[in-house]
Amino acid sequence: MSSFAVPKDRWQPDLSNRLADVLAEIGDAFGRFAERRVCGSWQGPSHLLPAARYSLLAGGKRLRPALVVLSAYATTDRPPATGDQLLSIAAAVEMIHTYSLIHDDLPCMDNDDRRRGAPTCHVVHGVPDATWAGTALLVGAFGSLSRGFSGTSRIPVAARVLGASAGLVGMVGGQWLDTELPGSGAPRAAFSEVHERKTSALIAGCCALGGLASSADDTTLDILHDYGRSLGLAFQAVDDLLDVTGDAEVMGKRAGKDAAAGKLTALAALGLDGAKRYADEMAARASACVAPLGGPATPLLQELTAYLGRRGH
Ligand code: IPE
Ligand code: IPE
Ligand code: MG
Ligand code: MG
Ligand code: MG
Repeated sequence: MSSFAVPKDRWQPDLSNRLADVLAEIGDAFGRFAERRVCGSWQGPSHLLPAARYSLLAGGKRLRPALVVLSAYATTDRPPATGDQLLSIAAAVEMIHTYSLIHDDLPCMDNDDRRRGAPTCHVVHGVPDATWAGTALLVGAFGSLSRGFSGTSRIPVAARVLGASAGLVGMVGGQWLDTELPGSGAPRAAFSEVHERKTSALIAGCCALGGLASSADDTTLDILHDYGRSLGLAFQAVDDLLDVTGDAEVMGKRAGKDAAAGKLTALAALGLDGAKRYADEMAARASACVAPLGGPATPLLQELTAYLGRRGH
């Protein structure tokens, strides 16, 4: 999408476009920002930087950056955060997400060799450098977050939101459960706790951080957080479905791994049709959450729920 301008301080997406174009515009602006402003400012051991850069710039859907930006425009067409600030916050969540993927793929976890259409970080850079690169992205995310909220009094609350989303009560705790719980024999409801923590928590955090960037009130922050929570549950259920029904080329990662690894997925808990119904229900719930919000991105957030569902079934 080379037709989009290099992001400037007042960069903002054209929200009158179709959802697919808005997502492409945000992804493009984010990619440029990540390359020039994030990776361009890194210093450190010369062989560790390429490993972190390799994964952060590998692409992916850039869903979480899009959720930060769209949530900031869910109540107002003029959020107080500048374009650069929104992209810094987006970089923080995408750095955490990328670190989670690098570690998720390690031999001691899901042991995957393909990610974002390329060999995984540890396959190219080795397990030690991949592990450290992921850790560096995790730590660096908090610097990027504070730059995103610089000049405001919201840095402490933003740090708490991101820390909770990514930490023991959120993604890290969920990833631990994911590797510990057996695919069968666990209580039926256990899968949704795994999904809620490992995937929904960060997605809900992205939406809340977007709301914080537009100085949203507590009621609106709760609405955005609830939206992200339900969207995240739908998203992980669709990811589980795609592991069975998806095309590895399109997904950029291998399919058919979850059952072989005995994972407690939505399919293992609910069966194929049950998992599809569950994903649809969570997507509809997410869409209903944001209905009261009157900003220009609200219809896009609603459309996004169906758009993500269409990836899977
Ligand atoms: C993959 O996330 C991990 C899950 C939570 C299912 P994405 O499907 O958003 O991965 P990228 O960012 O597009 O590569
Ligand atoms: C990973 O879930 C969720 C993370 C927090 C990284 P999966 O293990 O299902 O993600 P994929 O299928 O490898 O992308
Ligand atoms: Mg996993
Ligand atoms: Mg995995
Ligand atoms: Mg998966």
